[in-house]
Amino acid sequence: MMKKSNLRIGLFDSGVGGITVLREVYRQMPSESLLYFADSARLPYGTRSPEEILRFVREILDWMCKQDVKMVIMACNTSSALALETVRKEYDIPILGVILSGAKAAVKQGQRIGVIATPATAKSHAYRQAIQEINHQTQVWEIPCPDFVHLIEQNQLYTDYTNQVAQKYLKPLLQKNIDTLVYGCTHYRHLEKTICSLLPDSVKIIDPAEHIVVAAEKELSLLGLKNNQFPLPTRFCVSGPPQQFINLSRQWLGYYPQVEQIHAKEPSTQMMALNPID
Ligand code: DGL
Repeated sequence: MMKKSNLRIGLFDSGVGGITVLREVYRQMPSESLLYFADSARLPYGTRSPEEILRFVREILDWMCKQDVKMVIMACNTSSALALETVRKEYDIPILGVILSGAKAAVKQGQRIGVIATPATAKSHAYRQAIQEINHQTQVWEIPCPDFVHLIEQNQLYTDYTNQVAQKYLKPLLQKNIDTLVYGCTHYRHLEKTICSLLPDSVKIIDPAEHIVVAAEKELSLLGLKNNQFPLPTRFCVSGPPQQFINLSRQWLGYYPQVEQIHAKEPSTQMMALNPID
């Protein structure tokens, strides 16, 4: 039997957004072994109700626990905003979300903070709450960006249309003279070039992915759970078509991942709704 510290860390997102977190784990904790799950059959999460998100997150966590992970990082802001507090109390393994780490980093950088996020995350005001709990004088504007996830999942990263959409979303934040912009959705780092080209140099960008991995490393260290062996290959699982995920993620991973398809039943009232497809 494998020692607990040598088990994989589970990461999940609705799609390729969590790869921005996975890449940070590769960079900051190269010795860790990973399991990545993309719930691409049920993407996007950002227009779902809080009840649906909570149900999906529970299903994923149940499945991940069966895969024997030592920790779960929610590489998804929408899940972190709407489900983290609830599920943390329900599972025995450490579960980390991106929002608190992103909020702490943002407060260190600026006073006028813009957050671009999915409609569900923006509506939850999770970022505003987390930021103002740390410093109540900080001003926060949360902008829903409903088109970004589709554009990224369709690999429309550098089109004129994407540029126009980004301009539209960033305009109200630029009018507020923000000094800091937070990627409130893990997908958005994939639009970095477009977003950066539309912002003045004075605006600092916070990618919570970088900061959640710092927090995860601290937690593993504290629990004595850091891997001390050569890492296992990353296991990639998706609920939608694997080929789409493979083609899209290659550009960020630098290799073609081997991907397993996991069956996500929907709608489902079953707790164990995720099963491997034979
Ligand atoms: N990448 C996810 C997030 O950080 C979810 C995007 C979506 O599926 O709407 O919120």
